[in-house]
Amino acid sequence: MTVADPCAFDVEAVRRDFPGLHQLVNRKPLVYLDSAATAHTPQVVVDAMVRATTMDRANVHRGVHELSQRASAAYEEARQTVAGFVGAADAREVIFTRGATESVNLVASAWGEEHVGEGDEIVVTAMEHHSNLVPWQVLAKRRGAKVVAIPHDTRGVLDLDAARRLIGPRTRLVAAVHVSNSLGTVNDVAALGRMAHEVGAVMLVDGAQSAPHMPVDVAALGCDLFVFSGHKVCGPFGIGALWGRLGLLESMQPYQSGGGMISRVTLAETGFGEVPMRFEAGTPNVAGAVGLAAAIRYLQGLGLDRIAAWERVLLERATGRLSEIPGLRVVGTAPDKASVLSFVVDGAHPSDLGTLLDQLGIAVRTGHHCTQPVMDFFGVSATARASFAFYNTLDEVDALADGIIKVLSWM
Ligand code: ALA
Repeated sequence: MTVADPCAFDVEAVRRDFPGLHQLVNRKPLVYLDSAATAHTPQVVVDAMVRATTMDRANVHRGVHELSQRASAAYEEARQTVAGFVGAADAREVIFTRGATESVNLVASAWGEEHVGEGDEIVVTAMEHHSNLVPWQVLAKRRGAKVVAIPHDTRGVLDLDAARRLIGPRTRLVAAVHVSNSLGTVNDVAALGRMAHEVGAVMLVDGAQSAPHMPVDVAALGCDLFVFSGHKVCGPFGIGALWGRLGLLESMQPYQSGGGMISRVTLAETGFGEVPMRFEAGTPNVAGAVGLAAAIRYLQGLGLDRIAAWERVLLERATGRLSEIPGLRVVGTAPDKASVLSFVVDGAHPSDLGTLLDQLGIAVRTGHHCTQPVMDFFGVSATARASFAFYNTLDEVDALADGIIKVLSWM
């Protein structure tokens, strides 16, 4: 599907799968443009979770009875599905976590404590979500290391020449966001990965905003670690994944300890289990994993390529319409963007804009989007952000543009 062929995607049929999209908000039909924060979920995900929560409800890997067998099989099938979704060679490379944030924290703890020391450097980008910045700052402080950031320009494009200078012999890890949640920039993380590997560093990609919007292949990205969250790929809250190269994961110490992650325990000592169980202490979020797998299968059924193409259509229309509004400035104008449109308007505080748009049933996010360094760079305290998903329509894009014009006339 191309921009010239937008009708090839039957968005109205897709919308029928999403119960949450068909409601009134402030007596107006909901226009949900906050999918970068949390995407809506199709009924098939809810159905899968109901089954896992009611009929197939039992603990996993701990029982010989039928329900435990079913639950264990569903949980491990979910791992296979996630592995396929990111292009993993082996399902053992997938660890279920609470989401991207916990995945990064797991690496910072289980890998970082062992491999980052005095004088070492962790390279991030200046457009990281706090979830891929703060854990590294905390680790660096504890270990006497330093976090350095690759700058971007006024469009929100990373300076790869600066990256080449910053990634050097002291670099232990490069942690970069694939798609910026506040600017929409699609970063060339494969290039960063090559730079990291040239100096023997590990490459982590934060895919929280890319996994919902484009096909992901960790082999093509050339990374060592990839993290994403379930609720942004139309799945449940409280579940996500860490993918890691098997050898790397096997070299890492446990993150949390307890039941399910051991090989043998005596009163004197403990042997740790194999990957991935070593990193999944305690009873896991089985229904979450099953729901996540259902969401992934749903996205795969639509086709990630087709999703990306339709979202390009939406972004192009939205960028065009919003750019015509006097006093409105788009923040983040990189040539390669995913469906995120941040903006500020002269004389209108983003939170007022968001509150008034909500009166029209239009949901956008306002604030610093957990990227305060990006806000500092652009000299703003906040932006309004419309983020589109494949279930949004061109009429909704027009509703946003018309809505902004309307609420500005009230201010
Ligand atoms: N990271 C989420 C966002 O960008 C919450 O809105």
